[in-house]
Amino acid sequence: MNFLKQRLTGLWKEALHTNRSCSFEEIVGHDDTKQIFVKAILSKRPVHILLLGSPGSAKTMFLTEIMREHKASYFVVGSNTTKAGLVNQLFERRPKFLLIDELEKMSMKDQNALLHLMETGIISETKINKTREMELTSWVFATANSCEKIIKPLLSRFAILEMPEYTFEEFTEIAVIKLRQENVDVSTAKLIAEKVWNELGSRDTRDVTKVARLADSIDEIHFVVKMLNKQQRTERANHK
Ligand SMILES: Nc1ncnc2c1ncn2[C@@H]1O[C@H](COP(=O)(O)OP(=O)(O)O)[C@@H](O)[C@H]1O
Ligand SMILES: [Mg+2]
Repeated sequence: MNFLKQRLTGLWKEALHTNRSCSFEEIVGHDDTKQIFVKAILSKRPVHILLLGSPGSAKTMFLTEIMREHKASYFVVGSNTTKAGLVNQLFERRPKFLLIDELEKMSMKDQNALLHLMETGIISETKINKTREMELTSWVFATANSCEKIIKPLLSRFAILEMPEYTFEEFTEIAVIKLRQENVDVSTAKLIAEKVWNELGSRDTRDVTKVARLADSIDEIHFVVKMLNKQQRTERANHK
């Protein structure tokens, strides 16, 4: 009986544990990053995380998965915060989890407001000589392609996690899953992944989707990849 009770308590705790964090079930791999996020979400005090990595490495997916599973979250895009005013949005939403995609695109003004929040747990705003202030305990989870345009004191408040590059096997696995949703069979998906990886030299699975949507047959895959390759070469030459 005691054993049964213990087992049930264990299961209950486990269920509670998973419910209160996030499963990230849509994301293939990235197990270490998932583990850190679960710890941060379950932490009693705020932990701020910045995901750094190249395009297509599932950074935004981490934020949208948290958004999906936590009502107390609020998702913003760095380049967009100024229009509505980040501080104003925070006064209204009061999120526990503030999710910021593409932090490097956030204006200096908003970066400073965010720094103030992370340092003091207070947001404040002065408008026509009137100041309003509010306490807010938020976990800030952000993404960036690079940290060049992020102010140093803000960077130092984050636990920075670099997204490791995918191996060819992981890239193929993601491509197969993505293209299954587009009714592309496994062998065609693998061929597209191989061509995008080797011929286009791309590590972004969005390119896999582009090729799949443009090509109606196996022959066309070769043609589309050749065309995209040509375009990439011209773009690179123009940048020199
Ligand atoms: N680990 C992964 N698991 C599942 N899908 C992935 C993964 N990495 C990339 N993808 C696919 O690539 C797309 C781009 O991912 P995204 O999170 O927007 O990348 P980032 O924000 O790093 O540029 C996603 O919509 C998804 O379809
Ligand atoms: Mg993104």
